[in-house]
Amino acid sequence: MHILTAEQFNTSQIEKIFRRADYLRGQSATLAGRKKVYKLHEGRQLCSIFFQPSTRTRLSFEIAATKLGMGVISTENAREHSSSAKGETIEDTAKILDGYDVDLIVMRHYEAGAVARAAAVCKTPVINAGDGTGEHPTQALLDAYAIKQAHGRLTKLNVVIGGDLSHGRTVRSLSWLLSKYPKNHIVFVSIPELRVGSDVKKFLKASGTTFEETSDVKAALAGADVVYWTRLQAEYLKDPKAVSKGFSLNEKSIDVMKKTAILMHPLPRVDEIAPAVDADPRAAYFRQAAGGLYVRMALIDTVIQNG
Ligand code: NCD
Repeated sequence: MHILTAEQFNTSQIEKIFRRADYLRGQSATLAGRKKVYKLHEGRQLCSIFFQPSTRTRLSFEIAATKLGMGVISTENAREHSSSAKGETIEDTAKILDGYDVDLIVMRHYEAGAVARAAAVCKTPVINAGDGTGEHPTQALLDAYAIKQAHGRLTKLNVVIGGDLSHGRTVRSLSWLLSKYPKNHIVFVSIPELRVGSDVKKFLKASGTTFEETSDVKAALAGADVVYWTRLQAEYLKDPKAVSKGFSLNEKSIDVMKKTAILMHPLPRVDEIAPAVDADPRAAYFRQAAGGLYVRMALIDTVIQNG
């Protein structure tokens, strides 16, 4: 059971992961609970291999696995520190890891589709921790978990997704998850150069999820239940300076947001949300990231049980 795209989940699987995350979060509140959770996967191993930088995804997966009692073997800069630097293909690298009988492989790669190619040659479950401009399914799960925590539902929401919509993999994966639930409306906010991909529009249409595209930040923010802001994905652009205009939020610009709305961001932020916004109760990005640990614990647990 590989986790490669947010498309693969149905709503009952998502809800099950969230219930498990709630349980694991509850257990983590006491030492007795932590010890109980530690017994769940004692003796198992997770191998994490990241060909692109990461703070939250890699560390939360590794902390999650450790809390579940697993051993963690990790290479954090595989583009330089693995045989990829010598020209080894992702398939060969994956076959080697598969041969070491670990229980789970978590992989991030700079090329869209590379993690799926690795998974295709592995019996060991592989989790996509972000593949280039492709997908980031576990981020979408934790994003949805944060939305559910704030609003108590994943339906009938007006979700504003803004920033670099053409290169951001979290945008594609979150759109997939939102499209699984009825009656959501997505407002994509970007400059023309950074519009959301036609593939995303296609699956939204197919699912009946309504959406619109605009560059009017103020109007979009005013109507939102959820604002999901993203960074310019400079690493995929030839000339980031040429497109890095606009879309910085500060205390003033979020004034128009409803009291009940939340402001999310997959992080890292660069300059698209001013630090002064952090004190606003609607700023949910640090809560969002913190919940990701339990979502990833629940996902590891689920994948191993089913794998
Ligand atoms: C995101 C990613 O790597 O796609 N980061 C993350 O995992 N939280 C978003 C980003 O880098 O902009």
